[in-house]
Amino acid sequence: MNSLPDTPFEASASLDVRADFPALHQEINGRPLVYLDSAASAQQPQVVIDAVSRYQSHDHANVHRGVHTLSHRATDAYESARNRIRAFINAASLSEVVFTKGTTESINLVAQSFARPRLKPGDRIVVSHMEHHANIVPWQIVCGQTGAELVVTPIDERGQLDLEALDRQLDDRVAMLAIGHVSNALGTINPIADICRLAHERDIPVLVDGAQGVPHGSVDVAALGCDFYAFSGHKMFGPTGTGVLYGREALLEDMPPYQGGGDMILEVRFDGTVYNELPYKFEAGTPNISGFVGLAAAVDYLETIGMQRIARHEQALLGILTKRLGDIPGVRLIGTAAHKASVQSFVVEDIHPHDIGTLVDQQGVAIRTGHHCAMPVMQYFDVPGTARASLALYNDENDVDRLIAALDRAIRMFQ
Ligand code: ALA
Repeated sequence: MNSLPDTPFEASASLDVRADFPALHQEINGRPLVYLDSAASAQQPQVVIDAVSRYQSHDHANVHRGVHTLSHRATDAYESARNRIRAFINAASLSEVVFTKGTTESINLVAQSFARPRLKPGDRIVVSHMEHHANIVPWQIVCGQTGAELVVTPIDERGQLDLEALDRQLDDRVAMLAIGHVSNALGTINPIADICRLAHERDIPVLVDGAQGVPHGSVDVAALGCDFYAFSGHKMFGPTGTGVLYGREALLEDMPPYQGGGDMILEVRFDGTVYNELPYKFEAGTPNISGFVGLAAAVDYLETIGMQRIARHEQALLGILTKRLGDIPGVRLIGTAAHKASVQSFVVEDIHPHDIGTLVDQQGVAIRTGHHCAMPVMQYFDVPGTARASLALYNDENDVDRLIAALDRAIRMFQ
């Protein structure tokens, strides 16, 4: 998100959207479900489910291939989804919006097609200590392939990036900076626009892992000034298996394809292949057409509610959640940055996070426990894992009450 509301801890009114999400209306272990795991995967509103079903029932065929009516309909639906998503993130052109399977594939694409051909031994790639594995391992792989070196920007005990260290690290050996917009384990929001300015003053390209950024506020890639922005559909109330790579057109234009196959070519001969234009050069094989139709419906849904309204609601609820969790004796909050998205990790003295997760699930409350695909964060805080509650637009104070009550009960069982 580019901006946060000014009054984060006002009382939280419900956005009154629960009725839109069929999965929320069920009992788990005899109690109404409270879903606090949207950072792992968000539930889908009925409009998304309906859009996918309508497409599958009436319009499905392969895209960019057929001359028949269904193929035209499928192509129109797929390409209008691209345009919808382009507008959502304010990309300058359709060429800059590459459809992928998810954030992970988007980052691997950049590591292999952008970074790998440019890197030489001794070059550096900078990542932060709070990254998700998807924004660490692709860079480790490309370092192994090229002799480049991975450099890690430290964080502090609140889970905030050490910006002075980053400033020092961004020297002329650095070929790439890869940084998360929002930490999935800590909730920290990084000042991406400032970081991009800093990197660009030194001609260092920046990839932003936006998996946890897009669901929580409006993202404007032009205002952020990043070179690449990667995100996933299923974290923003769309289908799984959908992802986006935004990239500056001039950079994408220069990059070789990531995968070979159908749709990414203009002409194939045994003595050489001519690649397709952007963005198709990076979209080998039949894509997840219905998934992107669903993702476009998710974008419509989010914009109807309003990203600023969603951000305000989540910030207010986060304030309440954080206060109430922090008041429980024996609870240690992990991730207390000044600027946070609606994710709160915590540990409870003498109780393993998995036990906490299992016990609150028995009371119908879904939270995530473990390392959250961010093992270096766990190593920094010296914990085996955390319990993590993540809030979305459909959560309200009743959900927080239910979590706190379930947690109280779980803790009492260990006393
Ligand atoms: N990376 C996802 C999470 O944070 C799965 O839970």
